[in-house]
Amino acid sequence: MKITVMKNAHEIGKSVGKLFVDAINAKPDITLGLATGASPIPTYKYIYREYQKGKVSLKDVKTYNLDEYVNLPKQDKNSYYSFMHTELFDHTDIKEKNVHFLNGNARDSARECKKYDEMLEKAQVDIQLLGVGRNGHIGFNEPSICFSKGAFKVNLTQSTINANSKYFDENPMPTQALTMGVGSIMKAKKIVLIATGIEKADAVTAMVNGDVTPVCPASILQFHHDVEVYLDEAAASLL
Ligand code: GLP
Repeated sequence: MKITVMKNAHEIGKSVGKLFVDAINAKPDITLGLATGASPIPTYKYIYREYQKGKVSLKDVKTYNLDEYVNLPKQDKNSYYSFMHTELFDHTDIKEKNVHFLNGNARDSARECKKYDEMLEKAQVDIQLLGVGRNGHIGFNEPSICFSKGAFKVNLTQSTINANSKYFDENPMPTQALTMGVGSIMKAKKIVLIATGIEKADAVTAMVNGDVTPVCPASILQFHHDVEVYLDEAAASLL
């Protein structure tokens, strides 16, 4: 793992944003694996600002998002579909047909997951962007007794519900999600992970220095040959 410690989330957004813009310019039909949450927002802002300046085009870029809540309407402001449109897609020339999500409202979730796995297998993600949960989750792969190969329906842990429920005001937060499996995440050619804030420090230490164990799903990244981790000083403080 290549670890870079930077001053703050804004600086990380500039560096990781530039990494993505350079990668898109080098391969305009690149396939990206994308993440939601607070961590990637400065990166997305950097990318769409470069688009607005005419420095990059996303018209041939293909994206696959990591996860989606179960039984939350696609148009709900808290769906990850809405998040990606608000934080990135709507500010760029990306084509709707090129953006892919797990459908959390699919009647047969096992079938939906299988379909997504097959699409991912064909697409081959060039760069996967990740955040990490306070409990070490990646995507919505929560601490478990084994690593999941493919996509599946997960029951969210209390730690994740506590961290994410601040976004849900009137309606209760969904307690289940569909997520890309750890096996699929590991197939990306390159992985870039962002973590900021003291509340991520324990997960970051376990991910970088701990045993590789499904108890900390992010620890599997130690086995990937091309991982770049961007941390602020607080998230790196226990390393
Ligand atoms: C969320 C998402 C993850 C994200 C993580 C951290 O629940 N499912 O993909 O990386 O938790 O979120 P944040 O960046 O807001 O701390």
